[in-house]
Amino acid sequence: MKSLFDKISFGTLELRNRIVRSATFEMGAADNGKITDLPEAIYTKLAENEVGLIITGMMGAGENSRAFPGMIDTEGASFVSNFSRITSAVHQKNGKIAAQLAHCGVKAGAVRQGTSPYGPSDFAVSEDTYARGMTKGEIEQLIESFGIAAAKCREAGADAVEIHAAHGYLLSQFLSPYYNKRKDEYGGSVENRARLLIEIYEHIRECTEKDFPILVKINGDDLIQHGFTAEECLTVCTMLSEKGLDAIEVSSGLAIDNSSLPFQKPKDDEKGTFTDTAAMIADKVSIPIISVGGYRTIKSIENALNKSNISAISMSRPFICEPGLVKRWHTGNTAPSKCTSCNGCFGEKFACVQHCM
Ligand SMILES: Cc1cc2nc3c(=O)[nH]c(=O)nc-3n(C[C@H](O)[C@H](O)[C@H](O)COP(=O)(O)O)c2cc1C
Repeated sequence: MKSLFDKISFGTLELRNRIVRSATFEMGAADNGKITDLPEAIYTKLAENEVGLIITGMMGAGENSRAFPGMIDTEGASFVSNFSRITSAVHQKNGKIAAQLAHCGVKAGAVRQGTSPYGPSDFAVSEDTYARGMTKGEIEQLIESFGIAAAKCREAGADAVEIHAAHGYLLSQFLSPYYNKRKDEYGGSVENRARLLIEIYEHIRECTEKDFPILVKINGDDLIQHGFTAEECLTVCTMLSEKGLDAIEVSSGLAIDNSSLPFQKPKDDEKGTFTDTAAMIADKVSIPIISVGGYRTIKSIENALNKSNISAISMSRPFICEPGLVKRWHTGNTAPSKCTSCNGCFGEKFACVQHCM
């Protein structure tokens, strides 16, 4: 029997339990992308409350990467020193922290004046915003940028990086036939659509130490017609596993309408929202699989761990309303999370994330 409180490893990353704080964007930067005091306060609280691994909110890698002005940018000169403060604070509380690296692609709303967002292919984002397909030169530059960003995170003391390839951001856009209409080696077959993700992963390996833990967050399913499917996800996870990735966090949802949201209202107290897809992948690949989405009860977590090969569970919204959840469960109060999955945390400028502190 697996327990939530078992020690676990993702490659060389040793964790005190099987519970992960899934990446949660907190508007942790000033408008110029520079880190504020907020993330340190949030992550310190999670670390002292026994969360096994804290994954930061998505941080921008590469030019014009950010969805909002308040998203942390890894490109600034002060990034390493500011992020070091955060990793030290987490380590002082015996926590572990992974930096989530993202490029938002066509969803990059905070682009430099006079430029437009880009993605795998031309795409009308809204009536007055068009994203253009990336050139090969821009793809090469992006791969470089992820390597530089990961090396900076490692230098700042991060215990791991997670490449964000889920939820309809740039690497998920490349994986998804909904966005990716390319005719070159980065489009078409699933192997081609996965090429950019794989090249970024391999480059990060080259830019960090050989055993530096690298994770990927991926959609198990886009939850739209003609999107990235569970079967395709299995192909990509198998490729990543064979190349030595350390763990995969399986989410779902391209986030283009209500039914494709990664943050849905759980329908079941005994199961997460996307457990079945994560379990299918965990059965077939040899590296640890983390399942995210809709876990609110110990029962749902223990079922996922024990009825499948899933190795760990991650949660986002439960930690917004209750940063002390893991410690509460560990000390014997096993009542479900207080989170009602109302998505109020997406309110005015993500203010709820901050108010809950
Ligand atoms: C306020 C908020 C911000 C989020 N920011 C991110 C993010 O930066 N990166 C990411 O991969 N997922 C992000 N997510 C999605 C969560 O990591 C998670 O996949 C999703 O909320 C489902 O898990 P839950 O049911 O435990 O909330 C965010 C979710 C919320 C509620």
